[in-house]
Amino acid sequence: MPVNSSDHWSEYWAQGRLTSLPQDFAANYDGEVAEFWSEVFEKVPEGGHVLDLCTGNGAVALLAAAYFNSMGRKVAITAVDAAKMDMAAVAQQFPVQSGLASQVDFVADCPVENLQFPDQSADLVTSQYGVEYCDWEPAARQVFRVLKPAGRFQMVCHTPSSDMLAYMNREHAEYARLEELGFFSAVDDYVDGRTGHEALKNAFSTISSRLEPEFSSNGSALFGSVLGLLRNALDMTGQQLDSNREALQAYRFQMQAGRDRLADMLRVNQALDDDPDWTGVFVRAGLEQVRQGQIRYRGQHNAGQYYEFRKPQEPADQHQDG
Ligand SMILES: C[S@@+](CC[C@H](N)C(=O)[O-])C[C@H]1O[C@@H](n2cnc3c(N)ncnc32)[C@H](O)[C@@H]1O
Repeated sequence: MPVNSSDHWSEYWAQGRLTSLPQDFAANYDGEVAEFWSEVFEKVPEGGHVLDLCTGNGAVALLAAAYFNSMGRKVAITAVDAAKMDMAAVAQQFPVQSGLASQVDFVADCPVENLQFPDQSADLVTSQYGVEYCDWEPAARQVFRVLKPAGRFQMVCHTPSSDMLAYMNREHAEYARLEELGFFSAVDDYVDGRTGHEALKNAFSTISSRLEPEFSSNGSALFGSVLGLLRNALDMTGQQLDSNREALQAYRFQMQAGRDRLADMLRVNQALDDDPDWTGVFVRAGLEQVRQGQIRYRGQHNAGQYYEFRKPQEPADQHQDG
């Protein structure tokens, strides 16, 4: 069962990213994914309430705000995450989103397993690459609890076979390669004062000569970023390096958070792979499954699996609390 540590996600959202897949969706979900959500939003009535779970920096919530604006429909949107979102950072990178963000009520440090919202308060609960990260059983009970009778739960999940998984596995191997080359230990030793700038430069020079040809053949963004850092550092005097120790430490922290995030995503994908019927938790919590299918992005990439669940009009008594 995936259990999340939210610090590495907070670090990620503080970079102003809008989605967890910036290589495909830099400025929010578009194409078939955005179309899917528009169809979902269409059924929310005037005066309704949408609750987006595991929202990150609010990708789906912002799509909802844009959709309801375009329809001139007044709908309350709440977006929650166990981590901290950073809408100021989003506004800096995507100024067009800041007006939309002001229409969403964001709630940070809010685990889905412990939602502080009234029973039967949402017409629609949404999640994209979200609920699968939670502790499934309590999360499903919360989704059931907060939905109004006949309310719907719509999610788009990772699929173990998705192209994204192949991408993540590649990046995971790249982090391991950097470790093998001694990049992390060289930085840690220097930052923690165990070695000086001479030793750091020697290590960086060796790592750089090994990494260059690998980067030329695979074009890895991670390797490209590290090579940029190595080149800068090698151009510096010892004194300049010493005065950049904190910046190097910050880079190291970001790398570690990136690696932890990736490990989190791979763990979730493994959990879904191990239990292909995991979505049964929502049915056991009292919801009815209406439909499921695959979203093909740009007609080709497998962007994930969508599921629609509906809360019965008159839920059976035994399912009512969570
Ligand atoms: C892959 S990201 C997806 C974010 C966003 N929905 C998107 O599509 O960009 C997963 C998010 O789930 C959040 N998360 C993980 N476990 C959670 C939990 N138990 N409760 C609330 N949020 C959680 C993480 O903090 C992270 O922001």
